[in-house]
Amino acid sequence: MLYLKRVNKFTHKYFIPEIVSFIKKIYNQEKVLLHEPVFLGNEKKYLQKCIDSTFVSYVGEYVTEFEDMIAKYTDSNYAVAVVNGTVALKLALEVCGVKPGDEVITQPLTFVATVNAISHCKASPVFIDIDTDTLGMSPEKLELFLKDETTCKYGKVINKKTKNKISAIVPVHTFGFPCRIDDIVQIGNRYNIPIIEDSAESLGSFYKEKHTGNFGRAGIISFNGNKIITTGGGGMIITNDEQIATKAKHLSTTAKVPHGWEYVHDEIGYNYRMPNINAAVGVAQMENINKILKNKKETAELYKQFISTFEDIKYFDKLSYTNPNYWLNTILFNDISIRNEFLEITNNQGIQTRPAWRLLNKLIMYRNCISGNLDNALIISDKIVNLPSGYRK
Ligand SMILES: Cc1ncc(COP(=O)(O)O)c(C=O)c1O
Repeated sequence: MLYLKRVNKFTHKYFIPEIVSFIKKIYNQEKVLLHEPVFLGNEKKYLQKCIDSTFVSYVGEYVTEFEDMIAKYTDSNYAVAVVNGTVALKLALEVCGVKPGDEVITQPLTFVATVNAISHCKASPVFIDIDTDTLGMSPEKLELFLKDETTCKYGKVINKKTKNKISAIVPVHTFGFPCRIDDIVQIGNRYNIPIIEDSAESLGSFYKEKHTGNFGRAGIISFNGNKIITTGGGGMIITNDEQIATKAKHLSTTAKVPHGWEYVHDEIGYNYRMPNINAAVGVAQMENINKILKNKKETAELYKQFISTFEDIKYFDKLSYTNPNYWLNTILFNDISIRNEFLEITNNQGIQTRPAWRLLNKLIMYRNCISGNLDNALIISDKIVNLPSGYRK
């Protein structure tokens, strides 16, 4: 019989160093960051080309090339490149019809940018619980909330308590693990509420062989330095809806009416377009995405095997029919005090680990927002630790 090592209050002093040594060994480094960017190919060459051409800003061939690469890779009809994932989400919400005073349903366990983007539309977030096996929005809890707490008036879904319209649902593919997106989309369709997927963390993650971000009305991706590929800073809206893509591109480029030399703008737009210099890095990064994903999958397998030798720590694994990018490998501790000690010891020893984000419904700006029952998020968020997950050289 396999002997599993128990990580309890009597034994953790032995086993935490064992995990630290393992991480140092697989990365072959004394200090390991959570997720460093990696530049494996033509990044410098394409940057040099940008500089030589003087097209470093919003005009230049790399922006459209990068959009085409992302559209092709995600199998989306359209991709619109912008300066970061937060504005990608804000703009996607706006073009999908979110208006000031509306409510937008999302989950409490995500990076703050998800709800900030909702607030930037002057809408209010409504928090719905997650599933513990995906860390993404729970379709059951979503359905329950819509059934019990909303009513339909003139084709709009209205929150019975606040009388506000619910104009979008934003599920998140947390840490790159796909949530039950097809069930969520079905519910959205039934209630006629658009789904905008926050796939900021899930480039390279597939749900039933379809790329995340490609299920709802639109999806967004982040290319921040800590993501699976980076453009320094950057974001993308992906969609199969031509009108949404056209509107997003128009608004992101100061709503300028296309013309060779005249400057006419037909609405209040934004200066959100991704610069060519960032897109140049993105193109080079995309050329190596499969290599990066393969490396990350191997790392995930190493962690999975190793963590399975402990009884009181669980490797957070994918749903069987999904193929995640393993952006951040995640483990779950039974005991919160041991979890906290693990965080302290690892970080003190140069191994960058981190807990889950503080639940958003507990943050000072969002603590008065409407929430459904959040039991799953409350329980699991105290167990989570993200392990170093970057490319192993
Ligand atoms: C879930 C989630 N949503 C949105 C964002 C925002 O992306 P960005 O940092 O590019 O603005 C991030 C990442 O940073 C994220 O992790």
